[in-house]
This record gives sequence, C-alpha cells and structure tokens, in this order.
Amino acid sequence: MFDLTKLEIYTMHVSDLNEIKENLFQDFDDFWNYEIFKEELVNNNSSYLVARYNGEVVCYGGIKVVFDVADIMNIVTRKDKRNIGFGKFILNELIDIAREKDCTSITLEVNENNKCAIHLYEKFGFEQVGLRKKYYDGTHSAILMTLKL
Ligand SMILES: CC(C)(COP(=O)(O)OP(=O)(O)OC[C@H]1O[C@@H](n2cnc3c(N)ncnc32)[C@H](O)[C@@H]1OP(=O)(O)O)[C@@H](O)C(=O)NCCC(=O)NCCS
Repeated sequence: MFDLTKLEIYTMHVSDLNEIKENLFQDFDDFWNYEIFKEELVNNNSSYLVARYNGEVVCYGGIKVVFDVADIMNIVTRKDKRNIGFGKFILNELIDIAREKDCTSITLEVNENNKCAIHLYEKFGFEQVGLRKKYYDGTHSAILMTLKL
C-alpha cells in the first residue's frame, strides 16, 4: 500500500518545523519545545531529517554529534503512519550520516516501556549498555543503548 521508494527524505528546514509544530502536540508527541528545536536546526553539530510521503510530513529524526559520538535526539513517526517502515527508513539515514561524520558509535536513551522503539533500535544492532532508574517522571527507567559503527 505504501511505496517507500516514494518517500522523500531531506534536511529539516524551519518551514518543515512550522508544519510539524501544528501537529506536534497531537501526532508527534509532546516531548520537544519548539524554540529549542529551532535552535537545533542551526546547530552545526546537529543533523535533522524530515520524511514526506505524498507531500505530507510522516516522520522526522535527528542526531547531535559530540567528538566521535552521535546521540539520537529523537525519531518520531506520525501516529497514524506507524508500523509502515518510516521509522526504520529514517533511522537508517541517521546512521549513514553518523558514519559520514566519522562517528565511532551512536548512543540514545529510551523509556523502558517504549517496546516499539526498543525493538526498532535492537533491529539495527543497538545494545543496552546502561539504565537510568526512574528517569522519566520519577517512575519509568531510561534504557541507554549504543551501536558501535
Ligand atoms: C518508535 C517510532 C519512531 C517507530 O516508528 P515507525 O515508523 O512506526 O517504525 P517502523 O514502522 O519502521 O518499525 C516499527 C517496528 O516496531 C515493531 N513494533 C510495533 N509495535 C511494537 C511493540 N509494541 N512492541 C515491539 N515491537 C513493536 C513493528 O513490528 C516494527 O518492527 P518490524 O519491522 O520488525 O516488524 C514510533 O513508534 C514513534 O514515533 N513513537 C513515538 C516517539 C518515540 O517514542 N520515539 C522513539 C524514542 S526517541
């Protein structure tokens, strides 16, 4: 039904962010502040991608590189477009960017309850390297994961 070859992926611009902002609270999960996000787009250490299908933003994600380590800042697929493969696609692109920037590893933290994201990261070879207990809202722990490049 979805032809992933029709997916357009490119570096996120403020105009994309403005469009995402309209849906940020409903479709894209509210864990990012718009102003912080806008600053990230002009940060030389950061790379954010946006994916469009049929002209519509369906997924976005970004990394921040510090020395030789890339940190995954976020990957979000629009709620009604999940489990189609968009997340895998954008994660693959982010890993390629980290390689191009000569990173030796990629790190991230994910809520222990986020089974879908954990599955996605494990599928790409990320391994659990640590746990931050009760990191989210003093309740759920954050799993720290790393992928060696
Ligand atoms: C995590 C997220 C980005 C995945 O995006 P997506 O576009 O749905 O990802 P894909 O369709 O490429 O892949 C989803 C995979 O998770 C699997 N999955 C879905 N729900 C699952 C669950 N509850 N438990 C385990 N695996 C699950 C799917 O089967 C698929 O795996 P497969 O390819 O082996 O079949 C999306 O769920 C999302 O935006 N979540 C909210 C934001 C978030 O938590 N981001 C990650 C933390 S930064």
